[in-house]
Amino acid sequence: MQDLLDSALQRIQASATAEELEAVRVEVLGRKGVLAQLSKDMGKLTAEERAARGKFINTAKQSLEGAYEALKSRFESDALAKRLDSEWLDLTVPSSSAPLPATGPGSLHPITQIQWEIEDLFRSLGFSVLDGPEVETEHHNFDALNIPPDHPARDMQDTFWLEGHHLLRTHTSPVQVRGMEKLGPPLRMIAPGRVFRNESVDASHEHTFYQLEGMMIDRNVSVGNLTFFMKTLLSEIFKREVTVRLRPGFFPFVEPGFELDIECLICGGSGCPVCKQSGWVELLPCGLVNPHVLRMSGIDPNEWNGFAFGLGLTRLVMMRYAIDDIRWLQSGDLRFLRQF
Ligand code: DAH
Repeated sequence: MQDLLDSALQRIQASATAEELEAVRVEVLGRKGVLAQLSKDMGKLTAEERAARGKFINTAKQSLEGAYEALKSRFESDALAKRLDSEWLDLTVPSSSAPLPATGPGSLHPITQIQWEIEDLFRSLGFSVLDGPEVETEHHNFDALNIPPDHPARDMQDTFWLEGHHLLRTHTSPVQVRGMEKLGPPLRMIAPGRVFRNESVDASHEHTFYQLEGMMIDRNVSVGNLTFFMKTLLSEIFKREVTVRLRPGFFPFVEPGFELDIECLICGGSGCPVCKQSGWVELLPCGLVNPHVLRMSGIDPNEWNGFAFGLGLTRLVMMRYAIDDIRWLQSGDLRFLRQF
């Protein structure tokens, strides 16, 4: 009996292919196989012998099936490996049929370039770069900046209104509010981003453009601090010393509010068409944060104060490269973009 079992096991293990194994399985484990033979004369055995035979048959069945399953799964995994091998694809092989377009690689948009430069500068001065949503709430875009409903300042910013007191942000100032709410004082932050105004488009107006908002909140912040940071910013951008002056300007979220002008970089202040003969170019609205704005965002104005500024990135790029039509910037025109 043991011999019979051993030779059956050997036959299974000697199978070289899945097909051969299957044929052996039918022969060995099938209706006419070894196990069937072993059970055939069971009737003639004594009760004791029958019990012993039964036990033997069970173990034999287990070892034969075990050997069969083991070999079968080895054939299967071999087959799978072979298939995967044949399906392997080298995605890094350059295609001979689709060469790179003649335009070559692209470059950064001039607005992105200037934005990244300013981000680097302010990071080095300890400012965080924050992001805010383009779809804003009326609260963040207006109310929390001290521009309540019916305030005339709302009319200065023609707004794309959305449903449910939402809107496309008209400036990056709402990110100030989010910064104050989230981080609290002391705070140094800038927030570059896209803003939207419901304007008719011409050479100097776009419905979509870029701004960069800045804010610093600390103890005893002065107009001197504000001027220092603005001069540092502008010298860095224009790569030379700039002379600045402050004029009063009105924005509900700052008090006092200023318009910061720089001495015209084209004529050096003597007067030319770019500065409309005045020697000065208006560049940057700013001011000391209105205590009411601090209070609305949960900051105690008796302990903290700060400055804020709003830089028109699109405007700045136009000045830097003497671009005379704002529509170029979003035109996607390669003749324009290739110059940067
Ligand atoms: N948010 C203003 C605008 O788009 C610009 C501005 C003015 C921002 C004064 C400021 C600021 O932070 O202090 O018209």
